[in-house]
Amino acid sequence: MVYLDNNATTPMDPAVCKRMADFQQTHFGNPSSLYPLGREVKEQINAARETIADSLGVSRSEIIFTGSGTESDNFAIRGSFSARPDKKTFITSAIEHPAVVETAHYLDRKGIRTIFIPVDSFGVIRLEELEKALSDDVGLISIMHANNELGTIQPVAEVVRLAGTRNIPVHTDGVQSFGKIGFEIADLGVDFLSISAHKIYGPKGVGALYAKKGTPIEPLIYGGHQERLMRAGTENSTGIIGFGEAVRILKKNGKSERDRIRRLSRRLKAQIEETIPKIKFNGHPKNRIESTLNFSFFGLEAEAVLLALATREIYVSTGSACSEDSEEVSHVLSAIGLRPEEARASIRMSLGRFSTEEDVDAVLTELPKIIQKLRAITALDI
Ligand SMILES: Cc1ncc(COP(=O)(O)O)c(C=O)c1O
Repeated sequence: MVYLDNNATTPMDPAVCKRMADFQQTHFGNPSSLYPLGREVKEQINAARETIADSLGVSRSEIIFTGSGTESDNFAIRGSFSARPDKKTFITSAIEHPAVVETAHYLDRKGIRTIFIPVDSFGVIRLEELEKALSDDVGLISIMHANNELGTIQPVAEVVRLAGTRNIPVHTDGVQSFGKIGFEIADLGVDFLSISAHKIYGPKGVGALYAKKGTPIEPLIYGGHQERLMRAGTENSTGIIGFGEAVRILKKNGKSERDRIRRLSRRLKAQIEETIPKIKFNGHPKNRIESTLNFSFFGLEAEAVLLALATREIYVSTGSACSEDSEEVSHVLSAIGLRPEEARASIRMSLGRFSTEEDVDAVLTELPKIIQKLRAITALDI
């Protein structure tokens, strides 16, 4: 099997699986219990929190565990507006993940309008448009760090600088950047950052929100005293332990891993461009997560390419995993100016820790043949 859909999710690292299995066997206690069985679990949760906080260069009390990247995004956005009910404008970009887009639609139903900042043809937000949108009515700006479909990295530090002129807090969805580019919160200056364990070889169903001390935010979920009253509910202790282990591994091997994946990805990109005619690379040429490769193969339906590759056990995506089963054209590809037929011809390949030279060879053997064959039987004029 050749798995090239690491932006949708990553396989768990065997070391993470082992750590979770060992923990699960021995630590069933409720972390809120005061006797040793509970205390021990709480300590381990806090050790995982420390590992994650440390990797971002922040204090442990600024990390709140959640159930997913989606929840972290909801929490940052809805929590900010609940905390500042006088603010009636939300600013975000035209290429956000549905976790942010749908939350904006929710805000709209509550009387908070959203300004969607457009992007250029590489998928970079237009800072001059952002600057024009700023006002004292803005309660939060949420601009993703790296886009899931294109890999394009946004100038988040610049957004923070502009927002600072009006004291507007900034959230960034770091689900696709965390672990794929080395950064700390100080490099960005944001007030909130969302991350998710299953994109970094950890378990599904656990995420975290970095929330800067002192920035107003209301909880999303009420109940017990967990997560310092910010996110009630008995903790997903095994998931959190796995998250911590995944981050520990990244800290140890992240740099060399990123270099290796970058080399693989560059070879794949260069040879696709060399061997397959009538294609377009989507995304920023330099400022992007290089493990993400998005191409439009003119004249074809991406789904046909995806299914043909799948018969050879090569797994790729037609765009955001969340829009996979919808007929609609990706809002991200539309936002960078692709025509609907170009957007529908787009395939995303995303490499990861377990990608190999052989995987790249397999794609380079199969993909040109598939494209040629499909084009030969497609009557579309390209
Ligand atoms: C940019 C981005 N934000 C948020 C999410 C949602 O994360 P989760 O799957 O943990 O809910 C994803 C997942 O695809 C993503 O790519």
